[in-house]
Amino acid sequence: MKIAVFASGTGSNFAEILESIKTKKIKNVEVVLLVSDRPEALAVRKAINESIPVFSFTAKDFPNKQAYEEKILEKLTQLEIDLIVLAGYMRLLGHVLLQAFDQKIINVHPSLLPAFAGKDAIGQALDYGVKVTGVTVHFVDEGMDTGQIIDQRAVTIDSEETRETLIKKIQEQEHELLPEVIQRLANQEAAE
Ligand code: GAR
Repeated sequence: MKIAVFASGTGSNFAEILESIKTKKIKNVEVVLLVSDRPEALAVRKAINESIPVFSFTAKDFPNKQAYEEKILEKLTQLEIDLIVLAGYMRLLGHVLLQAFDQKIINVHPSLLPAFAGKDAIGQALDYGVKVTGVTVHFVDEGMDTGQIIDQRAVTIDSEETRETLIKKIQEQEHELLPEVIQRLANQEAAE
């Protein structure tokens, strides 16, 4: 299964997917492209270091979302991508990609959806004072973190929890769950 990872930031989930492939924790999966809306993102640097092709763009260089998504779609089609993995991609997808990759786009989100959708889910959970939060991997639709849930992991918030300690706990779960879900989808595809 050929995947394209979309990332806007640090790319720790992206790096973990690459590592899971290297160590054969996941099999029959190949990352053939990193897409980023921030050419200066650390994720882009990681991709270059690992010799993964990169398509990066700046949204304001295009008249609208449709225009840059058409460019992305061209790349995805050329590379025969089977699955898009959003790993910290901080833009809502538009109809160009959603239609072309119906039920073939997944996202990792740092909360137990439907709680704390949108930006800074970890800060939202801390502000609200919940005692349990977590990680969700879901299919992507046109809404903000609203698509069908594939799997979730819970993370407890202790009384002495800080933002930093919670980010670390959440990331540990993301780094396990996302490669696991990718492997499951690859197995399903192979069985079809
Ligand atoms: C991850 O925690 C991911 O769940 C979150 O961005 C972070 C990216 O980290 N995504 C969202 O909040 C999407 N709504 P990374 O760049 O180190 O993988």
